[in-house]
Amino acid sequence: MMKKLFTYKTLITPIVIAHFSLTLNAQTSMPRLDIKNKSVQLIVDDKPFIVLGGELGNSSASDMKYMEPHWDKFTSMHLNTIITPVYWELMEPTEGKFDFTLVDNMINTAQQHQLKLVLLWFGSWKNSMSCYAPAWAKTNTQRFPRAINDAGRKVEILSAFSQNNLEADCKAFTALMKHLKQTDKQHTVIMVQVENEIGMLQAARERTRVADSLFNSNVPTELMNYLIAKKDSLVPELKQHWSATNFTTTGTWENVFGKSLITDEIFQAYYYAKYTNKVAEAGKKEYALPMYVNAALNHRNVKPGEYPSAGPLPQVMDIWQAAAPAIDILSPDFYNPRFKWYCDLYTRRNNPLFIPEIGRDASNAAKVFYAIGHYHGFGFSPFSIESVTQPTEEPVGKSYEVIAQLAPEIAKHTGSNSMDGVLLDSTNQEQELIFGDYKLTAKHDYTLGWSPGAKQPNWPHSGAIIIEEGPGEFIVAGTGIVITFQLTNNAAQSAGILQADEGIYKNGQWIPGRRMNGDQDHQGRHIRIAVGDWGIQKVKLYKY
Ligand code: DGJ
Repeated sequence: MMKKLFTYKTLITPIVIAHFSLTLNAQTSMPRLDIKNKSVQLIVDDKPFIVLGGELGNSSASDMKYMEPHWDKFTSMHLNTIITPVYWELMEPTEGKFDFTLVDNMINTAQQHQLKLVLLWFGSWKNSMSCYAPAWAKTNTQRFPRAINDAGRKVEILSAFSQNNLEADCKAFTALMKHLKQTDKQHTVIMVQVENEIGMLQAARERTRVADSLFNSNVPTELMNYLIAKKDSLVPELKQHWSATNFTTTGTWENVFGKSLITDEIFQAYYYAKYTNKVAEAGKKEYALPMYVNAALNHRNVKPGEYPSAGPLPQVMDIWQAAAPAIDILSPDFYNPRFKWYCDLYTRRNNPLFIPEIGRDASNAAKVFYAIGHYHGFGFSPFSIESVTQPTEEPVGKSYEVIAQLAPEIAKHTGSNSMDGVLLDSTNQEQELIFGDYKLTAKHDYTLGWSPGAKQPNWPHSGAIIIEEGPGEFIVAGTGIVITFQLTNNAAQSAGILQADEGIYKNGQWIPGRRMNGDQDHQGRHIRIAVGDWGIQKVKLYKY
């Protein structure tokens, strides 16, 4: 259908085209998450969609004029999605009176730039705090109570144990979702984040009277039953903590989990999750877009209460999954160098990998290949994307250009063993991958010692997605890697490169460019995409 539109483009006026494309898009079904084998795909406009995203700085979307100069940059960086806040205080400045001007403007402008949106609901909590609660809620702590810290003081965090807080948040979020359903007929908004980096501070759990009384009551049966049923597959951190009471299944939180700050965090996580679930449920009742929550990852050796505790963190994943079934994904925000470590943790318990925030850094260009290739993740999004000053030079943008071309191939191989990824740097210089009869050894380009940069102590990250199209046929896409090939099960034979082509995918069709022989494949010894280059190569192997 879309192809036809382009054929007739010259014959009909732009207004007719706009109308036509609106009608066509309006026929697509709403965004959803589909399970494919062991993985999850985000389906947008009836096709698998990878969020090649960027998240806006917190205040940028509060002023459309401020945003104006930035939109063209997003296209230059090959983004397909902007992740943008919706501010409760500006959306409901007077209780019960909603103003959707900012949301509507964002949607319209995104459409003009062929971008999709993920909305961040800055509601009850933003980075633990409740700074986005409207003034009418902030100033009435009697009606909208605050959490209380270990010192017995109110903090600027709405209590998760207050029905009034919950109802106010639910009303506003419901209004937002209802508005989207009525107005966003083109499905520009593809997903919604509920709250932002929820987490208790200055105490591992709230110290309000209601919270204390619940803490001293029995662990709710629904949670207990869930944990008993899933006991064998719980994350090891939780299982180990519970094992200290010999897996006690009745009594108060301290009876079941023992007296510890970890128990306090588990308790608070349950009630944060229940609250957030109610908000998500209320929104989904109006308009059931996929919904996720994000977490501020804690540093090592810090006690609960000293980091934003009880959010959707790895150690309490089970608690969140038990108490918040309306939340589809638990997501890590990366301002933490331990990328593989946390991706491994967040892909447990069938949780798909979606990275809504990662600090802006050149290493993102490699990390995005690994997130998609190895974890079969479906989204990546550096924070404060509008701050990029040289969009055409932005490394992650170059990776996005490659991934956008490869998207249909990625979709085919998501959830199967025929797709993997590599992520390399000066400390992890090499990685092996097995595909059927073939062992691929991927090394950092600088291991060749051919580039002057190889002498620097810290090498730039390099990464790739590798797809096995058929026996001995591979697609290699990435930056800064060298790959050699061996056979896994036949010592008498070797694997050789029959042919290697670089090329591009245009609308899913492979268009070969140079035949990469001679110096380009080191006379048949390896496949190489140098540091500073980004590309796709197709390789056919043979046995000799
Ligand atoms: C993580 C938060 O989720 C963002 O909204 C923003 O505050 C960044 N941290 C700032 O680094």
